[in-house]
Amino acid sequence: MRLLVTGGAGFTGSNFVRHVVEHTDHDVTVLDKLTYAGNTASLAGLPTGRVRFVQGDIADAEVVGRLTGDADAIVHYAAESHADNSLHDPRPFLDTNIIGTYTLLEAARRHGTRFHHISTDEVYGDLELDDPERFTETAPYNPSSPYSATKAGSDLLVRAWVRSFGVRATISHCSNNYGPYQHVEKFIPRQITNVIRGIRPRLYGAGRNVRDWIHADDHSSAVLTILENGEIGRTYLIGADGERSNKDVVELILSLMGEPVDAYDQVVDRAGHDLRYAIDSTRLRTELGWMPLYGDFEKGLAATIDWYRGHEEWWAPSKDATEAFYSGKGQ
Ligand code: NAD
Ligand code: TYD
Repeated sequence: MRLLVTGGAGFTGSNFVRHVVEHTDHDVTVLDKLTYAGNTASLAGLPTGRVRFVQGDIADAEVVGRLTGDADAIVHYAAESHADNSLHDPRPFLDTNIIGTYTLLEAARRHGTRFHHISTDEVYGDLELDDPERFTETAPYNPSSPYSATKAGSDLLVRAWVRSFGVRATISHCSNNYGPYQHVEKFIPRQITNVIRGIRPRLYGAGRNVRDWIHADDHSSAVLTILENGEIGRTYLIGADGERSNKDVVELILSLMGEPVDAYDQVVDRAGHDLRYAIDSTRLRTELGWMPLYGDFEKGLAATIDWYRGHEEWWAPSKDATEAFYSGKGQ
């Protein structure tokens, strides 16, 4: 297949491109605007005969139409992806997540192109800490932040384009990813790079909030499975049973990096902060036979710490501006 991967210079998109090159014969065109979150260095070393990079906006109908005409399938990762940024300035989230997705759907409709939409578990809102339930494909939408509201809106557009126009689309909702090449604004890389820089990690509030961690490689293998074998019109949840409180994760990072486990600061909490996410990925496992390979979070986290230690040239250019943004908000 010839794949058009939007947002392929971001964290999870670039991981997917590397995964495709390693595990399939598919060719890839990456369409990425290179916002503050995009970095072509995340694609360095990939064979130019199989991976082509185009800088452009998914809301630009001309470039999207041209590239879609040459593709068998679109895998749509591009998004404004950070909840904290969406609380500060929601507008780019509407432009990219809603209008950008609409622009891609229209092109897919015109060209009859297979479409896989990357969504998030955050569209389902949050769970109580002691709730025995986890999110399933039938959970009601209840987004909390401008980020998750725009992702929810984009999902509903995809569903409407399937039903009304017959676009051959699937949707996946993954939980929180970790691994190499994640921007230092996000929780785990922020704390790792803080410790490397001699800055104390920053925990929002008391750190009771729970996230369901999955390695980015496992997310990519799940997306490829759905792209190749998923049922058109169907939604799949992706998760690896990795629930941990933020406090546990900070303490684990500190201990793996040889620091006292209480050497962190509690800072101003996020407005509307979702308490807990938890994924039930039974459908993906039973219907499509997918299994995560990273069972051991501690091992995956230790490897991620090593990666950030060894790739300062990749993350250092973003670090100061990111910390300046947070310190302006008391975080
Ligand atoms: P990221 O912020 O690391 O990367 C986003 C990429 O999209 C960047 O390369 C950026 O330049 C590009 N982009 C942004 N606006 C664009 C536009 N208008 N046109 C073209 N390119 C544009 O994000 P990520 O964490 O890799 O997330 C990617 C997708 O995965 C998002 O849709 C997100 O909702 C979803 N997701 C992420 C996670 C996670 O834990 N990271 C979990 C579940 C779902
Ligand atoms: P984040 O990586 O922003 O992902 P999301 O908000 O999409 O889940 O944050 C993960 C969790 O970590 C979330 O509960 C907010 C919290 N957090 C901190 O405690 N400190 C931080 O510095 C950041 C960036 C996040």
